[in-house]
Amino acid sequence: MAYTVPKLTDYSTEALEKAADECTAACTAEASEVRTEADLKSFRDRWMARKNGILTQVNDLWLKGAPKEAKRETGIRVNEAKAAVADIIDKAEHLRLELSTAATDSLDISLPGIRRPIGAEHPVARTSREIVAVFQKLGYSVAEGPVVETDYYNFEALNFPPNHPARDTQDTLFIAGQEAKPQRERLLLRTHTSPVQIRTMEKMRPPIRIVIPGTVHRNDPPDASHSPMFHQIEGLAVDTNITFGDLKGTLDHAMKALFGSSVKTHFRPSFFPFTEPSAELYVTCFICGGSGKREGDAPCRPCKQTGWIEVLGCGMVDPNVFEFVKDNGYDPKKVSGFAFGMGVDRLALLKYGVDDIQLFFQGDVRFLEQFG
Ligand code: PHE
Repeated sequence: MAYTVPKLTDYSTEALEKAADECTAACTAEASEVRTEADLKSFRDRWMARKNGILTQVNDLWLKGAPKEAKRETGIRVNEAKAAVADIIDKAEHLRLELSTAATDSLDISLPGIRRPIGAEHPVARTSREIVAVFQKLGYSVAEGPVVETDYYNFEALNFPPNHPARDTQDTLFIAGQEAKPQRERLLLRTHTSPVQIRTMEKMRPPIRIVIPGTVHRNDPPDASHSPMFHQIEGLAVDTNITFGDLKGTLDHAMKALFGSSVKTHFRPSFFPFTEPSAELYVTCFICGGSGKREGDAPCRPCKQTGWIEVLGCGMVDPNVFEFVKDNGYDPKKVSGFAFGMGVDRLALLKYGVDDIQLFFQGDVRFLEQFG
């Protein structure tokens, strides 16, 4: 039998309590029957409607009909009952909300969940991490520096002469609106990770051994082997009595650790303003094993049939560079060092046999998931 609001004749405390309890108990019972959105609506209307809802009836029948001396206590009871009913309805609404997320009125916990793909490490990030790890095992620590750099760190302190072509807008991406500043303070996108050599030597006294991974930018139009943004890893070792033999031994070890113990290394003279002497390091082609030929006498493209692949630039730190950080313990008469810098993207291209550098930066999941 559905609950109806009784008229009260007895306004004693016990009678009021009993009537209020029956009312809230009826409300609780009806709330437990709510299943659908429509149930909820008629339940709410039945109890809360201003015009003739149960709470309005309670007000009219109990409070308005109360004798003067019982008005106060009746008022308190009625208010308690109203609050209790409002609470029950509120809970029923919340429960309905939770249930409405399930397609049916019950929740099937045996349904499979939503599987989120784990993804794969990006081939460039992975190559970078592997290179860094080789040097970390040799005791090198990792340093980083800003991508937006000043002319001073990117060029001047690295012994680039004022009119060196690298300072041209043909090669370097400059930040706009810097003309009013003196040249050394002008901002640009670093063209190599070498400025972090100076930044690190300003902060840390010798001896140091650091590797510096990071992004660099050059004003190159994108094509299969160029990207205006790419990645480098720089290395720097400074101590007393560091020689070119240390450079050769360190890099020979690193190349064997990276490409396999059978690779051979080969240094050719080169030039960089901040190293003297300078060299380019070649390793025997890890695609064709150094023969320059693929299966069936086909030409090996990655090494252009030479059997050698250029992997990095390097050299002994130029004494002119130490002059800029002399006050932090880098007196060129007392310390010496070597530096090297390599392009990570190019090595990743070779390592994974990818023929277009653009694929690394387009974020196409179909390409990236092949490395999972
Ligand atoms: N910074 C040079 C480049 O980007 C590479 C390099 C680094 C050469 C350190 C020598 C020493 O080409």
